Amino acid sequence: MPRRLTAFTPSGELHLGNYFGAIEPLVRDQTPGETIVFVSDLHALTLWHDPAEVRGRTAQFAALLLACGVDPDRALFAVQSQIPEHTELHYLLECATGFGEARRMIQFKEKSARGQQVRVSLLTYPILMAADILLYDTEEVPVGQDQRQHVELARDIAIRFNAAYRPVFTVPRAVNPPVAARIMDLITPTDKMSKSVSAAGSLRLLDPPEVLRRKVMRATTDGDARVRYDPERQPGVANLLTILSACTGAEPTRSAETFGSYGELKRAVADVVVAMVEPIQRRYTTLAHTDLRELLASGAAAARELARPKLIAAREAIGLLPADYPATPGIRPIA
Ligand code: TRP
Repeated sequence: MPRRLTAFTPSGELHLGNYFGAIEPLVRDQTPGETIVFVSDLHALTLWHDPAEVRGRTAQFAALLLACGVDPDRALFAVQSQIPEHTELHYLLECATGFGEARRMIQFKEKSARGQQVRVSLLTYPILMAADILLYDTEEVPVGQDQRQHVELARDIAIRFNAAYRPVFTVPRAVNPPVAARIMDLITPTDKMSKSVSAAGSLRLLDPPEVLRRKVMRATTDGDARVRYDPERQPGVANLLTILSACTGAEPTRSAETFGSYGELKRAVADVVVAMVEPIQRRYTTLAHTDLRELLASGAAAARELARPKLIAAREAIGLLPADYPATPGIRPIA
């Protein structure tokens, strides 16, 4: 198993698309020493935010990821901001990144075009993401299409840093999450299901069963009343079949034939979604009342142990004094 890193930014609400696209594949493959999972709370500060909400969501994401099966015995599991090495490496990597390179990031261009108050951190957060990745000798980063360019940037920074100074960093690569799990918005089935955009179109892992049911029953379907798996012409119906398939393993084209109407399909989808989230919600309710401080502190301590030597190597490669200066013999004043 290559070393893999996954991070979840605590903004918006985790939904079925996150579950099948990122959480479930990660939980399935947890390997001690190779699986790293973060709640990337520092990334939630790049746009306007309510401090209490970020705090609350960070705790909520941690509990929910555990409820989904993230196993601290088999994965390194921590909250990013509890590992100061991330922010320190972030600065060093900023010193190895071009302004033009950062400004070219599509997500920055899109979000800064929309917002009135653009923070500097919106520009530099892909470099923080590079620090998240490079601190741990990460080999594979499973990300959706929207984050691929950021992983490419991490690659470029690693290659450039290694060549300019010393070979400190493992060069990571982006890997695709399983294709079948591309779950779309229920109301606008041509868009990906999103953490923050649409409440009615998103099946949230913590939505009560009756809310999930209502959202599925109100999902957009398409003109002709036949149930077929045709993502081009019937994206809404195809999406429902994809969700059904993700929950049950049933092949979408085959299962389409078993439904006589949209109503029948929707009831089946609502049933399997509710059955799937029910045990997660049960575990979450227990975990939400559990003190997770010790668990997260020990995750952070384990992460720091891995990150520390990497940060020290980067510090020294880029030209900072070694920690044991001035005791080290052989340091001469520059000519
Ligand atoms: N920026 C990512 C997102 O918004 C989350 C993230 C933070 C991440 N650090 C990361 C993803 C490191 C992969 C690797 O979804």
